[in-house]
Amino acid sequence: MSQLPTPESSNQSIAKRRFIQVCQYRSCQRFNAAAVLAELKQHASAELMVAASSCLGQCGSGPTVRVVPDNVWYCRVSPKDVDAIIEQHIRQGSPVKRLLHPRFHPDYERLLERLKSQSTDS
Ligand code: FES
Repeated sequence: MSQLPTPESSNQSIAKRRFIQVCQYRSCQRFNAAAVLAELKQHASAELMVAASSCLGQCGSGPTVRVVPDNVWYCRVSPKDVDAIIEQHIRQGSPVKRLLHPRFHPDYERLLERLKSQSTDS
């Protein structure tokens, strides 16, 4: 029998540790990836690590940002998008649909289901 989440357990899932990788290789650098990284680093904490990465293999759609352990990929991220990623994804647990890389996330509802099942598994 499954249990409904209590406010305490919901807060725990929101506060889970995450790691954000921001590609700083050539193609992404051309599209302001350094500014995206700098903006994200302003939100780093004990629960949120932010770091530069080498090429993440999605050069045609950079700047590329990947959130782990959610395994959520964002594409064409600009510094203006950082607040939405932090608020919607990191704080509320819902990835920012308009920024999702379509190659990895063709179905938003399916992604939400996967993330929900991951949070109940841990
Ligand atoms: S250069 Fe950023 S993903 Fe390849």
